[in-house]
Amino acid sequence: YLVYSAPIRTNQPSQERKLPEAIIIGVKKAGTRALLEFLRLNPHVKAPGPEVHFFDRNYEKGLEWYRSQMPTSGEGDITIEKSPAYFISKTAPARIKEFNPNMKLIVVLRDPVTRAISDYTQASSKNRRLGQMPSFERMAVGECAPWSRANCSVKTRGVNGGWGAVRIGVYHKYLERWLKEFPLAQFHFVDGQKLIDNPADEVKKVEEFLRLKSVVSPADFEVDSVKKFPCIKNPDGTHHCLGKTKGRPHPKVDEPVLKRLKRFYEPENDKLYSLIHQNFRWE
Ligand code: A3P
Repeated sequence: YLVYSAPIRTNQPSQERKLPEAIIIGVKKAGTRALLEFLRLNPHVKAPGPEVHFFDRNYEKGLEWYRSQMPTSGEGDITIEKSPAYFISKTAPARIKEFNPNMKLIVVLRDPVTRAISDYTQASSKNRRLGQMPSFERMAVGECAPWSRANCSVKTRGVNGGWGAVRIGVYHKYLERWLKEFPLAQFHFVDGQKLIDNPADEVKKVEEFLRLKSVVSPADFEVDSVKKFPCIKNPDGTHHCLGKTKGRPHPKVDEPVLKRLKRFYEPENDKLYSLIHQNFRWE
């Protein structure tokens, strides 16, 4: 059923639901929501709010379902979606290639140590109902917990490389899968840390990658004194910040554990840098 068919018409004749030409494929907890929200400041960017998960969970629903999830758009608009779980999906790369071999792929990357802590912070907030989750340190380098699904029996350079929060940060392993299907030129890598420090700059590079006239500027953002993250500045001076599940305080992690994680990721990060010809200098 992977065949284009006539777009669903809406009551505005010039408007139609277009299938995505670009996808933010990952990485979870690297700043994917911030990127999408900030890109939407460009009126030519059209995107559904929720994650669509078509190429992993909802594939059987078919292309017309996928299209129905998209907002309407006009001439010169580009439709994009973000489903960060695609990055680690075994099936998504080939499916996306079959759908559109020219798909533009956007990947937000962030220091894998920070990303792991962010992932843990999210998981432990969800697990609160099940009782206290073991500390980050225990999950990352210790014995985990009998009930946790993490595989902590095998250590790599002293780290539980099988724990999901750590494993996802071995970015090159997942990217190799994507690079079997798409040439490097079809990817754009966003620096998740720069997206926090200088969002306008990072968004501008994505606008250029999407061949859009760049309209997002530093004047669109302000660091909110409560949120402590850049928020969108409304014309009336108020701020539109991301929800409370974004920009959560992280636990303070013991220095020796941080060091061990950094050492664990060093060779993995080097492999990533040479794979994508881009050095993020995570140290
Ligand atoms: P934390 O909540 O751990 O700080 P994703 O949307 O991919 O799940 O990423 C969530 C992360 O986006 C947050 O992780 C936060 O650090 C980061 N982020 C980047 N820019 C942000 C912003 N302007 N507001 C809130 N969080 C932002």
